[in-house]
Amino acid sequence: MNERWIANRMQNIQVSGIRRVFDLAAKLKNPVNLSIGQPHFPIPDAIKKAAKDAIDANQNSYTQTQGIAALRNKLMADVDRRFTGLKDRNILLTSGTSGGLVLSLMCTINPGDEVIFFDPFFVMYPQFVMLAGGVPVVIDTYPDFKIDVNKVRDAITTKTKAIIVNTPGNPTGAVPTRESLRDLAKLAKEKDLVLISDEVYSAFSYDEPFTSPLEFNDETVVLDGFSKTYGMTGLRLGFCHGPNKLIDEMIKLQQFTYVCAPSIVQHAGVAALDVDMSAIVADYKAKRDRLCDALGDSYEITKPGGAFYIFPKVPGNRTGQAFVEDAIANNLLIIPGNTFSHRDTHFRISYAASDEMIDRGIEILRKLAK
Ligand SMILES: Cc1ncc(COP(=O)(O)O)c(C=O)c1O
Repeated sequence: MNERWIANRMQNIQVSGIRRVFDLAAKLKNPVNLSIGQPHFPIPDAIKKAAKDAIDANQNSYTQTQGIAALRNKLMADVDRRFTGLKDRNILLTSGTSGGLVLSLMCTINPGDEVIFFDPFFVMYPQFVMLAGGVPVVIDTYPDFKIDVNKVRDAITTKTKAIIVNTPGNPTGAVPTRESLRDLAKLAKEKDLVLISDEVYSAFSYDEPFTSPLEFNDETVVLDGFSKTYGMTGLRLGFCHGPNKLIDEMIKLQQFTYVCAPSIVQHAGVAALDVDMSAIVADYKAKRDRLCDALGDSYEITKPGGAFYIFPKVPGNRTGQAFVEDAIANNLLIIPGNTFSHRDTHFRISYAASDEMIDRGIEILRKLAK
């Protein structure tokens, strides 16, 4: 095949560091796997049943591009309950939260537009911003992963078009304070910027009720999904709500790309919204505490407020990459920080795992810290 076949835009797209760890994982026997960014629990029975019922009822055709009314209405009712006075808002079901991220960026970013987000960042942000022709502008949040809105103000130029914020965050688990989200939301409004809020971990907020910037800026574009909350990452169901005109554009683009979110899963999604996940969330909170308590004296850790990750600093002068290689040599899978960052000083642990697996990981990590 001629190299020329590959479009120039693919030169900007890097293979995820997570994929590399998965490849190494495949070679290990019974590794301690704390690398995976997905819940370790099975899909609740009520959701499985709804999916099976949808198959049996032959719900296998295309749905409306924007998704089935039963699910859209139920989600929108929840948005209306949580946020009063939203006048200009519509909702679209997407192929995972990722689908909503691609569509929202493709529908808002022109070539050369700058998009601000925070470092450490979710791996897809720089890739999708560049795919849309935009220029990533990252704001460093080390060492405590807090949002400094003054830094955002300073980073805004005449080319800035959008800001992406992710709360609770991947890979740090950090939850920005309510005040910083308010100030960020107001800044976006003041500067007339698109504020994209990735809330896929909103169910996993352990220390305080979840805050969305939508509360302070009624034009916020909210991305959310079922993957993490209900342990259904492979089923690909997400949703996005935002101003009508933007959602219309996203629907137009979805029609020619993803077509619709998977039909069977949309029906399962209706049942999912009635499932109480609080016991799982309490369990994940306990796992967070277990890890932070056990590693706190050997590692520098900013205790995370949500999601299911912690992002410790590598002790000594080793890079994240070198540390992760040592960990893998000790049968432990974790992800180097530079997968999510311009720095290579930290590593990500996912505690979406059994307590037994977490305890084995703690033992290895304590040994590696010495
Ligand atoms: C911050 C963040 N946003 C979006 C996604 C994508 O989720 P989905 O499976 O809904 O596409 C992930 C998945 O890891 C994530 O961590």
